[in-house]
Amino acid sequence: ALVSMRQLLDHAAENGYGIPAFNVNNLEQVQAIMEAAHETDSPVIMQASAGARKYAGEGFLKQLIQAAVESYPHLPVVMHQDHGQSPAICQGAIDLGFTSVMMDGSLEEDGKSIADYEYNVDVTKRVVDMAHKLGITVEGELGCLGSLETMKGDKEDGHGAEGTLTMEQLLTDPEQAADFVRQTQLDALAIAIGTSHGAYKFSRKPTGDILSISRIKEIHARLPNTHLVMHGSSSVPQELLAEIRQFGGDMKETYGVPVEEIQEAIKFGVRKVNIDTDIRLAMTGAIRRFMAENPSKFDPREYLKPARLAAKQICLQRYQQFGTAGNA
Ligand code: G3H
Ligand code: 13P
Ligand code: NA
Ligand code: ZN
Repeated sequence: ALVSMRQLLDHAAENGYGIPAFNVNNLEQVQAIMEAAHETDSPVIMQASAGARKYAGEGFLKQLIQAAVESYPHLPVVMHQDHGQSPAICQGAIDLGFTSVMMDGSLEEDGKSIADYEYNVDVTKRVVDMAHKLGITVEGELGCLGSLETMKGDKEDGHGAEGTLTMEQLLTDPEQAADFVRQTQLDALAIAIGTSHGAYKFSRKPTGDILSISRIKEIHARLPNTHLVMHGSSSVPQELLAEIRQFGGDMKETYGVPVEEIQEAIKFGVRKVNIDTDIRLAMTGAIRRFMAENPSKFDPREYLKPARLAAKQICLQRYQQFGTAGNA
């Protein structure tokens, strides 16, 4: 059944596990997530970005998720809007039937300029006021996703701050986080700790100076009852990069967020872990391999099948690794 995200995050906090939130854009991704959740008995968070809504159309996305709910009636499913850029966008998603929305007020509505703290508090509070009346969950974001290696905001998928950022902007401040939660009364707080969206997160396997799990611990110490959210949390498996390269793809050297760092973060309040890129890499590797090995095939079902299976493997692994399995 469709459920609110708050309900799943509360259960995750009570039982000390994390939930991967997978981005969805098409049928095969929705099916991959549901098959993996079914096999591991896991609660599901599927999220649609603005890019996903533009690609598929929000009516199609909604009905794909609705079909997943009907096909797996025993599994709790959250339909979450990822990175809403204004209260009006969040209102639109709520009207459409989403059970959870993210108001990302860390950036202004253009998705490029860093917003004032007061602006972030104001828009987030407005969304909380409209959503909570209807039992809808609200995620907010404080701090700016981006790299502590380059001090650049996250630009790879087209939304993210421009220019050079400061350490204070790239790492969420625990005291400000406490004030933000108190003023907005949101349900889940996305934090900045050195991760960014997309495949190119770190130029080397990250250490504490460029991926600050210690900052999560400080925020959790200050806000022990707040559900924390990690964005940009794909692990960018080296074997998937190798497969893509082997079959003609061009991927530069890069490193993601190691699963063991996410597991540590889950011990300190992280309940929602956003993953999009790993599924993209898995599907692309499988399709490149299939195309290279089967040059005469042309039925999309034949190459989308291994792509769906590769996406499912990622989901199965994360449900196990984050302790989600067995909690549906
Ligand atoms: O927010 C980031 C997700 O990876 C979604 O990316 O905007 O390209 O759909 P997208
Ligand atoms: P990745 O690009 O690391 O998968 O992050 C996805 C995300 O944070 C979506 O909001
Ligand atoms: Na989100
Ligand atoms: Zn994100």
